[in-house]
Amino acid sequence: MAEAVLGIIGGSGIYDLPGLTDLREERIESPWGEPSDVLRIGRMGETKIVFLPRHGRGHAIPPSEINYRANIDVLKRAGVTDLVSLSACGSYKAELYPGLFVLVDQFVDRTAGRASSFFGKGCVAHVSVAHPVGPALQERIAAAATAEELPFVRGGTLVTMEGPQFSTLAESLTYKGLGYDLIGMTAMPEAKLAREAEITYATVAMVTDYDCWHEEHGAVDVASVIAVLHANADKARRLVARLAADFPREREACPAGSHNALDFAVVTAPEH
Ligand code: ADE
Repeated sequence: MAEAVLGIIGGSGIYDLPGLTDLREERIESPWGEPSDVLRIGRMGETKIVFLPRHGRGHAIPPSEINYRANIDVLKRAGVTDLVSLSACGSYKAELYPGLFVLVDQFVDRTAGRASSFFGKGCVAHVSVAHPVGPALQERIAAAATAEELPFVRGGTLVTMEGPQFSTLAESLTYKGLGYDLIGMTAMPEAKLAREAEITYATVAMVTDYDCWHEEHGAVDVASVIAVLHANADKARRLVARLAADFPREREACPAGSHNALDFAVVTAPEH
């Protein structure tokens, strides 16, 4: 197996990753267009790290305008084998409180019209995303969170909405009634594209609010989301540092099949 390279996508509130040694910035060209930012490439201990802020530095790119394909493509070209997405999310469960980290394992895609595949006319492929999160990577994140004594839970379903507006009350109650745990605006199509790129993917959902269903909390607003995020950014960085410190040198086989997702996925004949 190849050298393990840990990619980190920083969501809202996480635009850099202090503590990288041998740090350099690299602008990698992608046939899919412009990624959100230059890559920051360095090391934490022995582990090679590639960092990309999803919304760009200064948060100028809204969820619908993110070039998810270019982002995953440049991370792949930089050698990323394992990708951890840090994402702010609203909660549909009273026990998933603001400040908690949730290691989700399922996603529901309610986005509209985002380019969500590297494949299409001319080269048709269907990868499985039945289990979109790499269980071994999630296990390592859980171990890092435990070691850092961070509050977290394992498991959960995150629905991705198009945004940029937050949900109506009717939508919020519908998602809650369907049993979803969290809502965000960016996990899809990122997770699907990572699987197509044979990158192992996991999301650390950082709960920032109760969306708008919770009678005691009222409607969600950016100011409260940002306040929780600022309080949590340091925890997220500690989590990444611990994960990197204990990361294997070589890529591990993924029980969900992300390391060889394309082996049986391409339908188009090679001579086509
Ligand atoms: N990101 C953070 N909180 C959110 C919410 N309530 N809905 C959608 N995305 C979010």
